[in-house]
Amino acid sequence: MNWSMIMMLSIFLTLALSINAQTSSSDLISQVCEHAPRKGFCQSALRSDPRSEKADTAGLAAVALRLAASNATDNAAFIGRMLGGGAGGDGGSLDPAVEQCLSDCADQYADAVEQMEASIAAASTGDYDGLRPWVKAAIADAESCEEGFRMEAGADQMVMSHRNKVFKLLCDTALRIVELLVLA
Ligand SMILES: *[C@@H]1O[C@H](CO)[C@@H](O)[C@H](O)[C@H]1NC(C)=O
Repeated sequence: MNWSMIMMLSIFLTLALSINAQTSSSDLISQVCEHAPRKGFCQSALRSDPRSEKADTAGLAAVALRLAASNATDNAAFIGRMLGGGAGGDGGSLDPAVEQCLSDCADQYADAVEQMEASIAAASTGDYDGLRPWVKAAIADAESCEEGFRMEAGADQMVMSHRNKVFKLLCDTALRIVELLVLA
């Protein structure tokens, strides 16, 4: 390799590196998720919704809130199935302690679903400050559900703990993104 080829190569490499740095720092999802409690979780959650691709920060906040809301709905449905509410339910075979905890969780997740819907409505009017108490109330519901299992001796805590944890993480992720909008 002669000198000019080395020069060309190093110019090319410098350019390639700077272009690469630009595209990764201009990826809004990565930027926004820098503020999230778990960056990887935040990125894969947001990227799971095609609406994130062209969204601005407000759009990403809306996606995060919707993800948390649909997770609350999913958890409420799961609890309903466990309690035997739907076809094929087998609530009859549940341990009574678990059944009691689950019926409390059913109320708590019914509230959480409504609170998340209220937060989405607030977001759609740009009321980012006003939506935060709704999301915090929904987090408190998941914590009460978790706490109920902890207080009930002999109830298997694993029934809801993973779902509670994921839901709270989705809420926390949404809150951090919303914070960027409030501070902006
Ligand atoms: C909600 O989170 C649970 C994991 O805790 C997952 O199994 C479920 O698929 C999620 N549902 C939605 C709609 O996000």
